[in-house]
Amino acid sequence: MRWFDNVLTKNLNIKYPIIQAPMASAASLELAAAVSNAGGLGSLGLSYHKLGDILPDYEAVLSMTNHSINLNFMTHKNPRKNDIQAKKYMNEIKKYYEEYKISEIPSLANTTEPFNSKHLDILLKMNPKVVSFHFGLPESNYIKSIKNQNIYIISSATTIKEAKILEDSGADAIIAQGFEAGGHRGTFASSYKEGEIGLFSLLPQIVDATSVPIIAAGGIANGKGIAAAFMLGAKGVQLGTAFLSCPEASVSPLWKNALSESSEKETRITKAFTGRPARGIVNRLLDEMENKTDIIPDFPTVGSVIKPLANAASSKGRDDFLSLWAGQSASMNRNIPAKKLVKLLVEETSSIFKYFRNS
Ligand SMILES: Cc1cc2nc3c(=O)[nH]c(=O)nc-3n(C[C@H](O)[C@H](O)[C@H](O)COP(=O)(O)O)c2cc1C
Repeated sequence: MRWFDNVLTKNLNIKYPIIQAPMASAASLELAAAVSNAGGLGSLGLSYHKLGDILPDYEAVLSMTNHSINLNFMTHKNPRKNDIQAKKYMNEIKKYYEEYKISEIPSLANTTEPFNSKHLDILLKMNPKVVSFHFGLPESNYIKSIKNQNIYIISSATTIKEAKILEDSGADAIIAQGFEAGGHRGTFASSYKEGEIGLFSLLPQIVDATSVPIIAAGGIANGKGIAAAFMLGAKGVQLGTAFLSCPEASVSPLWKNALSESSEKETRITKAFTGRPARGIVNRLLDEMENKTDIIPDFPTVGSVIKPLANAASSKGRDDFLSLWAGQSASMNRNIPAKKLVKLLVEETSSIFKYFRNS
């Protein structure tokens, strides 16, 4: 049996168990279609989509591929109102607005709704092969409706405890998201501190503690990483950062530049850009908010205040306020089209397993 023929590829109706991570801020329709056409599983991150844009975008992807596509939503809690914290935060941010001579600071505003009944209606209408959730699963009656349509359900765990919760709540497969991972931590039932576990430790423990297929995520950039994940019990891998350097990704030139210089740079977890811990390449805002996490309002309100600053600085060629999401292996990125990247990942992994078979 070939390394890529397994329960996950069978259930998802894909050739290779290589998933392009849903990246609401960066993955384009073209990227998702290219990965699925190459035999992997392309994903659409729909969390920041307006409701009316979800179905047209899905249809646009389906016009580019006949293969399975994963649709992804966030299941965060609505932000708490905390006027004292908001005031302190606005006072802190004011200096940046003065520096860039932007007269009006927008108020904190909800930039995305968690998965709700309206999303559910659209999802059931789209009826994809697979849906994935970040920050836990939606409520049980939603899960029941999704299961009634035989849509495969995936969600991320950052601790063994979270993996068990996901399995008990109806996840068909679980992503073990290591601390190396770029973008938001999927943590939902543990403290962020408890979720600071590298993939080499997290993955085999989740494999042992559950009985559903486990997908490894975090810092995987090539065939060596994929083979290692499979040796530790994974049935699939989910790569985000590695796909950011593909020309199909919707990544700004400043972000691309930071990725290409990432061997000289550090990635860190920060709440500075969205109010929720996420890993990105260190830049000015990330650094300057490092010791001020207590005054940062809840996800997803912060983005409305940071966006004008990011735009103003970007127009001057500076990435100071951009969320430069990236995992710890960013410097291993290859600047090649998604189809080529999937092919290369499969060839690299196959040659490693062939080496072991022959030695
Ligand atoms: C730019 C970026 C955006 C992301 N957005 C999402 C998202 O919308 N939904 C989601 O489930 N995961 C998201 N993630 C996390 C990925 O699913 C995955 O855990 C991570 O990319 C794996 O680590 P790697 O980036 O080192 O490959 C994002 C990751 C990145 C890098």
